[in-house]
Amino acid sequence: MDENTLLGVGDDAGVYTFGGHVFVHTVDFITPVLNDPYLWGAISTANSLSDVYAMGCKPLNALAVVGFNNCDLEVEVLQEVMRGCVDKLREAETVLLGGHTVDDKEPKFGLTVTGVCERGRYLTQKGAQLGELLALTKPVGVGILTKAIKEGKLSERDIPHAVENMLKLNNRASELALEFASSCTDVTGFGLLGHAYNIARKSGVRLAIEFSSVPVYEESVLLVKEKIYPKGAVDNYNFVKGSLKNEGLDFWQLLLLSDPVTSGGLLFTFPEEKKPEVEKRAKELGLELWIIGKVEEGEGLRVLLSQT
Ligand code: CO
Ligand code: CO
Ligand code: CO
Repeated sequence: MDENTLLGVGDDAGVYTFGGHVFVHTVDFITPVLNDPYLWGAISTANSLSDVYAMGCKPLNALAVVGFNNCDLEVEVLQEVMRGCVDKLREAETVLLGGHTVDDKEPKFGLTVTGVCERGRYLTQKGAQLGELLALTKPVGVGILTKAIKEGKLSERDIPHAVENMLKLNNRASELALEFASSCTDVTGFGLLGHAYNIARKSGVRLAIEFSSVPVYEESVLLVKEKIYPKGAVDNYNFVKGSLKNEGLDFWQLLLLSDPVTSGGLLFTFPEEKKPEVEKRAKELGLELWIIGKVEEGEGLRVLLSQT
């Protein structure tokens, strides 16, 4: 920390000011989520850029972080990963400046990203106000799907909707959030409940989440009921369980809400009276948006099946 550090460890990205500009910095890398290396590269890139979008900022440039073993995998595999990365960065109008590779038995790919706060305002996890609504821009249940793919129970061709969503940048969601949100984060490895808990804790409020309003993949529901889910879902649930008031959800529903997400959507709170405007703007941006709960007095989380 120095006098130029505006925000240190603990939010989606660090914020640093220099020469009158405000920059955000973040790093993220993941193991393969799909069998197709091009798609993995593109999804990992969207995932790494997501923290910058969660702050309401614009990514400028990136460096690749690569773990790869030349004996286990053909170099063409890495070339495909890089091709997916560069295509996705181009879509985000972000340049790749370089990177670093280490020998690694378990492949890993990701990016460090530098972004800039263009509009003089950036979003953090702190700032949710009582009575506000909680919105989410992509479905959950991705970790369950990728676990099933790894076990050979499912192919990426079976879940085009989930692949499409993981490939989707959070740039337009970021635009919407910057316009209306009081607090914002992206849903990734800690699952919906884990990331919602971060907003609640930092803002000093409680978030109530209605299960029936949360978008989930149909396949994830079937799989989790067959007890196919990643260990991370249980770890995430155990992490929030002490701060969670459960009003009627079964364990599989809690696991679904705790399931680790790769390249998930933005989760943000906004004033209730702005609801028509937010929904109108989301439509203009071609963005899916679900209102899944609200901000209330208290701390931690409350989960319920349905409001009615
Ligand atoms: Co994040
Ligand atoms: Co991150
Ligand atoms: Co180097």
